[in-house]
This record gives sequence, structure tokens and C-alpha cells, in this order.
Amino acid sequence: MTETTGTRRIKIFDTTLRDGEQAPGASLDVEQKIKLAHRLARLGVDTIEPGFPISSPGDFRAVQRISREVEGVEICGFARAVQEDIDAAVRATEDAQRRRLHMFLSSSNIHLDFQLKKSRAEVVELARRMVSYAKRFVDEVEFSPMDATRTGDEFLFEVLEAVIEEGATILNIPDTVGFALPEEYGAMFTRVMRGVRGSDRVEFSAHCHNDLGMAVANSLAAIKAGVTHVEVTVNGIGERAGNCSLEELAMALATRGESFGAATGIRPEEIYATSQMVSRMMGSPIAYNKPIVGRNAFQHEAGIHQDGLLKNRNTYEIMDPERLGIPRSMIVLGKHSGRHALRHRVAEFGVELDAQQLEELYAAFKEKADRQKTVHDHELLQMAGQAVDRALEPYTLSEVQIVTGSGTHRVASCKIRDNDAGTEAMYTGGGEGPVEAAVAAIRSAVPEPVEFADLELYSVSSGETSAGEATVTVRLGDALHRGTATNRDILMAAAEAYMAACNRAVREARSAAPESRPAAGAEAGVR
Ligand code: KIV
Ligand code: ZN
Repeated sequence: MTETTGTRRIKIFDTTLRDGEQAPGASLDVEQKIKLAHRLARLGVDTIEPGFPISSPGDFRAVQRISREVEGVEICGFARAVQEDIDAAVRATEDAQRRRLHMFLSSSNIHLDFQLKKSRAEVVELARRMVSYAKRFVDEVEFSPMDATRTGDEFLFEVLEAVIEEGATILNIPDTVGFALPEEYGAMFTRVMRGVRGSDRVEFSAHCHNDLGMAVANSLAAIKAGVTHVEVTVNGIGERAGNCSLEELAMALATRGESFGAATGIRPEEIYATSQMVSRMMGSPIAYNKPIVGRNAFQHEAGIHQDGLLKNRNTYEIMDPERLGIPRSMIVLGKHSGRHALRHRVAEFGVELDAQQLEELYAAFKEKADRQKTVHDHELLQMAGQAVDRALEPYTLSEVQIVTGSGTHRVASCKIRDNDAGTEAMYTGGGEGPVEAAVAAIRSAVPEPVEFADLELYSVSSGETSAGEATVTVRLGDALHRGTATNRDILMAAAEAYMAACNRAVREARSAAPESRPAAGAEAGVR
């Protein structure tokens, strides 16, 4: 919770499951929507718009089940200004603890002339009739004049006054095509709040699209102008360039709240896990440099930055990634990294190097860093292990064989050394896919119940050299741990990344409770 006394509470209206789902290829089934809705409730959103009930039986069921099963948040049914849409939205949300109906109708000339083929008078009359109809069933009725930012004040005011008279309680003024600039969007709300009759009886909401990259800035401008509801999506997913990003807006308010006098109820520690879940379920990867949740958002490669950061995190970071639930190491080791960063990183693994060992490691590191963009932790620990003459990781993966092909079953065998026990053995595993098989084989070497959580694969090819980079996230207890590896063979990259993530999880668990190491093979059995 980011709220402080004396600040306005901004309500977060999450439309990931409705507007966000309109992103190409992002569609979800009913069960996925329910899982995500529970996650959004845990994140602390105030309202969830889970879909468009009239649009398909699946969306109707999703809105209905979320209304029944997800507690503690308001559920919103989405509808055109059409009686059947309203009926469907009313029925789908009738079991919600709290509900809202969100009705939209275009207001710009271009939409009226080419899409609706209605006159302005007809639009006002329809808006009145449908808001009045919806009010028979639902108290909280939100009205959105679609394409409002290209409508012009005169007609916009007329429509808004009409729907207020009929009982609309929330006026959402969308920048449907992402055309507005922040000062324009904020000023429009100021004029509406001053000039529209009855505006003191309703609440205002912002809904911005990101076509010019201004959805978050526009939403913040609307908050400055007095809006109390903001419509957002996780990862900014949505039509075309997407919507206002929930995490960027929430963290802008959490970090710069004093400039806005406003705060949200979003729990920052839930942001990362929610973002990952949305990205995975909607099949929509997150850009590396995406603020807050992109994989580079808290990583530092430049030597000067690394040096500053090691002295005081605030030199180059304005937010604490750990507060956002981000499992990470803040320093990316590459050819720009210096001795200070190297010494610090290996010290994080409990290894103190003397001057000669550091020089030896530094020389090996620079050679590797010249060959590959990033030197990953497990590679660094391997080199540091050579410098100090002992293995630093709990397990070393030394051989991987995977039998893959067109059948339905894949088999992997891995030679793994248990460095604490001083033993080495072959482990086998099977699965429908080759990564699954390799994961099963490696898991059987590790006695702790490390669960596989996620795999991201990227191409890091350059020129004629093709390579894959894999990042695997695992869960042990409540903690997430990550491992990354690069290899010319993408399956090897995945296997090494999984081993690296398991090593990290096991190392932390065993150093927190040294007596806790289960007997080898106890969990899955050595095969
Ligand atoms: O972008 C938009 O205008 C919308 C609404 C219909 C609110 O998604
Ligand atoms: Zn929209």
C-alpha cells in the first residue's frame, strides 16, 4: 500500500482482461481470466473489468465467475449503449459483492459519421435512454464518450450533462486513439469539471492509449487535474501500442507522490509476479527496457554506475527492486565492469578473494567478457572457483544428453556433481518436451523441493554466430530465484540456466539453515 495521510486516494480500474485482451494474440480462456483476476485482487486494484459479456459465451462466463469468486474488489461489466449489451453485463455481474456497469458510445464526428452513422442529437438521445435503462439495475454507472479527445468541448459537454442528468455516477473521458498531449488532456478535465453542469455530483476517470507513448503522462496529468479513477492494464498491454501501464502509473505515484498529492492502493511487492503472469498467459513478452518490470529496468553495466551503486544504491536507483518483488542481481557483469564489481559480486556468494586471486579472476573474466556480452553468475563462480581452487556452486552440471525428435516423449540424461558431498552421478528424466526432460533429470539430483516457475528464451545471435539465452525462474518456499545462461545450443542454455537457478535457491536455503539439507535424492529419487 503506497498511501500516506493527507493524499487523495486514486482508484485503480484494471482493464487488462477487457481492453488489454484486445491486443492481438492476447486472448484468454475462462480459467486464465479467473486466475488473473485473483492476482489483480491481490495486487490491490479497486475495480476489475474482466471482459465484454455480450461478446462471447466465454467472456460472459468469465465475468460471471469472477463476479462470484473474486472478493474484495468491484467488478465491472462492459457494454455498448445497446439494451442487449446492458442486459448481458447486468446478468453477468449480478453476484458480485460490488459492481459497476461501464457503457460507451462514440462522440467524435469521425466516429459518428463513419461508424455509428448517427447525428449528434441521436447520440445524445441514445446515451440518455441507455444510461437511464442501466440505472434500473445498477447504481454505479460509468459512461465513456469514445474518442472524447477528438470530440470538441461543445458536444462533449452536451453528452456529459445528458448522462449526468440520467444518473451516471462516473464519467470516463477516454483518449481512445492516444492523440492527446499531457497538458491538453489535463486541461480538458479542468474545463469539464468547471463547465459541465452536475460535474460536482460525479467522479471522473482517465483512460489513455499509448500511440504516442504518452498514456502514463496523460493519466498523471488527469490526476493533477482532479481525476480520481484511472483505467490501466498490466504491462500496458492493449490495442495497438496499448494502454496506460498499471505498474508505471502506480510507481510514479509511489515515487513522486508529493508532486501529485495522490496515492494508490497497489501493493508494490505484487507487481512483478503479476506482470510475469500477464506476460506469460497473454503470450506477450516484456521489452527489456520497459520501466519497472523489464529485465534491464534495475540492471547496471557501466563501470561508473556499478561503482556508485556499490557505494550507495541511491546513486543510480530511484526505486528498490526488492520492494517490487523483483528477484535480481543489480550488477550485470560485462566488458565494462571493473575489479570492484567483480570482487563485490563474488563476495555476495561468500567468497573473499586476495589480490592475486582477484587478478587471476579479472584476467579470465575480461577474456570471457570480450567473447560474450554478459558473464553470468554461474560462469563467474566457475572462474572464481578456479582462482580459489574449490568448487563454489552446490552442483556442477558437466554433461547433458537429450534425445528429441518427432515422438511424444523426450529423454534427458545429465551428469551432475554434488560438490558438497564430493560425488558425481548420472540422472535421467523424461517429458513431452526436451526442456521438460532436462529439468526432470536435473531436479532429481537436487533434494530440496525446487519448483520450476518460468523459462524465457531469447536469441542473442550476431552476424553468423547464433546463440540462445535462457533465463529460468524457480521457486523454493516463497522465494523466487533466477539463473541465466547463454549457449550456441538453446537446450543447453535452458539446462544450464535451470541448474544455475537451482544452485542459487539451494545455496540461499542452505546458508539460511545449514542443518536443513535433505538427504541427496530424497525428493525425486536418484535414477
Ligand atoms: O479506448 C476506449 O475508448 C475504450 C473505451 C470504450 C472506454 O476502451
Ligand atoms: Zn481503451
